Amino acid sequence: MSILDIPTLHQPPKKVAPGTFLIQDIQHALGAPLSVYLNSAVIQGAEPVIVDTGSARNRDQWLQDVFGLVEPEDVRWVFLTHDDSDHTGNLSQVMDACPNAMLVCSWTLVERFSNAYEFPLRRCRWLNDGESLDAGDRTLVALRPPVYDSPATRGLLDTSTGVYWAADAFASPVPGGPGVTPIDTVADLDPEAWWGGMVMFGIHALSPWLSMVDATRYAACVKKVQAHGMSTIISGHSPVIDGPRVAQAFEMMGRLAGSEPPPCPDQTVLDMMVAAMGGE
Ligand SMILES: [Fe+2]
Ligand SMILES: [Fe+2]
Repeated sequence: MSILDIPTLHQPPKKVAPGTFLIQDIQHALGAPLSVYLNSAVIQGAEPVIVDTGSARNRDQWLQDVFGLVEPEDVRWVFLTHDDSDHTGNLSQVMDACPNAMLVCSWTLVERFSNAYEFPLRRCRWLNDGESLDAGDRTLVALRPPVYDSPATRGLLDTSTGVYWAADAFASPVPGGPGVTPIDTVADLDPEAWWGGMVMFGIHALSPWLSMVDATRYAACVKKVQAHGMSTIISGHSPVIDGPRVAQAFEMMGRLAGSEPPPCPDQTVLDMMVAAMGGE
């Protein structure tokens, strides 16, 4: 068994608001009854938007899911949050398939990712944190989440639906290994497991500097993002966060600075994983 054989589970696109769909990919963890979402999104409307471009490993299914919701020639915007492989995996396929699409990115993103992708600069629109984009029937605001793993990161708030795409923020594993369909909203998560997952991913997988920041200033930053009044949070690596869970998620996010994560998996854990794979 190789690392490419880690089982994945397909779930169809999930409607989270009128014309707004979560594109779902789920990767099961090795050696633990847990799974991780690898999501992206599509916003239909006067000027359809693809938000992040999924993983190369899930390319065929991802393209099928996305272009089942929007015709390639109708896509007007491709919003890229940051330069990680689980968000840029099908970028070149999308830009080739969607001749009328502009790529919404930033100087930071182009600087960091030009080694892997030849940006069509005449088709790019640079949008910094706090700036907005007129997408015909809606205004989209680039809004950096408080937790992130690339300085290029900007989330995307659709002010017409209140749906906020939070990039990597609010990441948490969900219960359910191979053969088990994971839950799809955080309301189904055990609260302790949700908090533990957010701490583990927030500190070990995204922002290890959380232990160094001033907790009060950090909490104020979280409040500033929350003040935009989003009603639903979707993101790359979380079940849907909606209803009263939005406030709860922000409250948890505000406590991440200074929180103690469990130990980061080490060589002992890797040895166990390799043994479980048959020693290959
Ligand atoms: Fe990332
Ligand atoms: Fe990610």
